[in-house]
Amino acid sequence: MTDTSDGLDFAAATTEPVEDWATDYDIFDPDYIADPFPIWDDLRGGCPVAHTDRWQGSWLPTKYDDVVALARMVPELSSTDPIVVKPPSDDTADANAYSTVNAPPISSDPPVHTWSRRLILPAFSPKATEAHEPFTRQLCQDLIAQFIDRGEVDAAGEYAQQIPPRVIAHLLGVDPERADDFVEWVNGVLGAGLSRPEVRTHYRGKIREFFMAEIADRKANPKDDLISELLAAEIDGEPVPDLHVAGTCNLLLVAGIDTTWSSIGAALWHLATHSDDRQLLVDDPSKLDNAIEELLRAYAPVTMARVVQEQTEFQGVTFEPGDKILMNFPGANRDPEAFENADVVDLERQRNRHVAFGVGIHRCAGSNLARLEMQVAIGEFLKAIPEFHLAEGANVTWAGGQVRGPRKLPIVF
Ligand code: HEM
Repeated sequence: MTDTSDGLDFAAATTEPVEDWATDYDIFDPDYIADPFPIWDDLRGGCPVAHTDRWQGSWLPTKYDDVVALARMVPELSSTDPIVVKPPSDDTADANAYSTVNAPPISSDPPVHTWSRRLILPAFSPKATEAHEPFTRQLCQDLIAQFIDRGEVDAAGEYAQQIPPRVIAHLLGVDPERADDFVEWVNGVLGAGLSRPEVRTHYRGKIREFFMAEIADRKANPKDDLISELLAAEIDGEPVPDLHVAGTCNLLLVAGIDTTWSSIGAALWHLATHSDDRQLLVDDPSKLDNAIEELLRAYAPVTMARVVQEQTEFQGVTFEPGDKILMNFPGANRDPEAFENADVVDLERQRNRHVAFGVGIHRCAGSNLARLEMQVAIGEFLKAIPEFHLAEGANVTWAGGQVRGPRKLPIVF
């Protein structure tokens, strides 16, 4: 299948069927992507830290306490290259791309992590985030206006997907009209690129080129935007290197698009398939904020990885240096030892210490913005379209691997 403007193959690489999830799991398996919940339930009951040799090998914890403990295990577990499960390929070009444009702070350990995170936090404070609310609301209203008269829409492709790239563009100060390009690039890195190195290398290069050009432009003409702010910042009296700024912009694009698109899409999928929950929010929109937390818990999209630095015993297994550990935040959120009726989506749930945004030093820096986008996107949708459901025979497709969410969501109203 070739479905990109650059003619690259975006179909996930195919793999052998899984016989034993405890010793041979595959996060790219279609069953895992479609419905990972019973798989995690089984593993928790028998082999809570599963292992696989696939994709160069990794460990998969499934219990809340274990995932939280592992996410806090710094410096024993590192976030530097690679933070993703790498495809089985000796890809030197990719390794070069990685070393020149990294993605700080997510791809760094302390002390680099500490200052590179501090650099971006002001841009994501509650107050700074609020400033993006009018833009986000107008954007959602404009998108809805484009399809409301049709009575049907692909809510993933034509709505959820359209929001985060424009909000990130607004925040970074780059052209929102490039939104389609951003989506394609991010898909190339985080979607198909996870299992196809040539796709990932290609799109990493595009992102790097784009931001290096934006940086050159801001140096000549500083603006009131985040790229200019990052270029004006100093670390120990020295300007932040251009490549670091490009790496951080790369991260914000990659971290901010697929994740939030997936969460908005999963929330709309839930409401399209659970009419009581949809009605609950239509009748009382003040319940939306709480509902968003539950939808984040239940359909947490992001699974990152860490690399073991030294031999470590953990819950009866031995991690060796170089082993990869998946930070299974989505699985932790479904652990019945941590959440009452963990597999029930209860939009009025009160005790909800979910880890959809991670935990520890790498906890999502953009969580305020992600919540704002979800609240505005779902709120505006319900206001304009209070009744909707899946189209008959709808072919809903989900992306999986390390960011899970619906990619086609045909609904009617
Ligand atoms: C619902 C949407 C989102 C979800 C579920 C999510 C989830 C996560 C998770 C789980 C991590 C931790 C990764 C780890 O432990 O290695 C993370 C980190 C991060 N996220 Fe998000 N994210 C979302 C949206 C965003 C947005 C909109 C932005 C900003 C544009 C953003 C920026 C970041 C950054 C900068 C980090 C790295 C923080 C660090 O390493 O210190 N995220 N995110």
